[in-house]
Order: sequence, then C-alpha cells, then structure tokens
Amino acid sequence: MISNYQTILLTMLIFCSGSIFGNEFPTFSDKTHVDKWRPMKNLTDTKMVEIGKFAVREHNSRDKTKLMFYKLVEGEIVEGYDTKYNLTITAKDGVCDNNIAKNYTALVVEEQFMKILHLVSFRGPI
Ligand SMILES: *[C@@H]1O[C@H](CO)[C@@H](O)[C@H](O)[C@H]1NC(C)=O
Ligand SMILES: *[C@@H]1O[C@H](CO)[C@@H](O)[C@H](O)[C@H]1NC(C)=O
Ligand SMILES: *[C@@H]1O[C@H](CO)[C@@H](O)[C@H](O)[C@H]1NC(C)=O
Repeated sequence: MISNYQTILLTMLIFCSGSIFGNEFPTFSDKTHVDKWRPMKNLTDTKMVEIGKFAVREHNSRDKTKLMFYKLVEGEIVEGYDTKYNLTITAKDGVCDNNIAKNYTALVVEEQFMKILHLVSFRGPI
C-alpha cells in the first residue's frame, strides 16, 4: 500500500528531477554513464605502491603463486563512491629459476566507507 507520505515524496521527486534539478541528477534509466579513468600521476606514491603490493599478495594467496611485487609501471584511477584502480604491475615469479620480471594488470576496488580493498581481477603476464 502506498501511503500519502510516499505519494507526496514521489510527486516531489518527479517534479524536482523534471524541472529544478533536471540537469544535476541523472535518472536511473541513464545508461550512458561511463567511468572516467584518469592516469595516476605518481607511480611511486606510497599508497599506490601499497595497493599494488596488496594485489600481488591477494593473487598469491588465491592462486597459490609466488609473485614478488617489483614496481608499478602504469596506473589509472576512477574516484567515486568506490574508488577503482587499474594497475600495471611488474613482478618477478619467485618460483621460476630465472626470476624474469613480467607485467600483470590488476583491478582493485577500494570501498571508501570502510577503506577495504578488493582484488577484482589479476591478469598476466601480459
Ligand atoms: C611520488 O611519491 C613519492 C613517495 O611518496 C615521493 O617521494 C615523490 O616525491 C613523489 N613524486 C612526485 C613527482 O610527486
Ligand atoms: C586497465 O589497463 C589495461 C592496460 O592499459 C587495459 O588493457 C585494460 O583494459 C584496463 N582495464 C580497465 C577495466 O579499464
Ligand atoms: C612492462 O611495462 C612497461 C611499461 O609499459 C614496459 O616499459 C616494460 O618493458 C614492460 N616489461 C615487461 C617485462 O614486459
């Protein structure tokens, strides 16, 4: 059952989104929004390096690998409700005798509220 209060709220919402705030609030059916990646300026920044190391650590524990973080070579970031990091990481394989450095890409999401990191994907060597 829809209460009067909800009806009023709904009316206000439709009214406002259609007129006063028309350009500020995209409607829920708006699918044209795409993430705006911007390049990371500082690839030696402590926080970025920590996120890169987290990605390698997490990948090692999930896939029982022994990669060793070496450095970040590329990074893109989208800031928002959750911040996304698309990192290109150079790592060495601790299992291989030759220990050649290879590049990997990792997608990490940071929940802004709790500051919790999640490894979304880890691919490579590329
Ligand atoms: C990048 O970050 C590192 C570590 O925080 C700092 O030492 C260095 O000066 C920064 N470089 C630039 C260009 O800001
Ligand atoms: C992350 O960056 C890599 C290398 O630039 C690119 O190939 C890949 O598509 C990017 N991933 C996302 C989710 O944007
Ligand atoms: C890793 O990526 C960097 C930057 O794109 C490139 O200069 C380097 O040669 C790559 N290393 C390997 C081992 O592919």
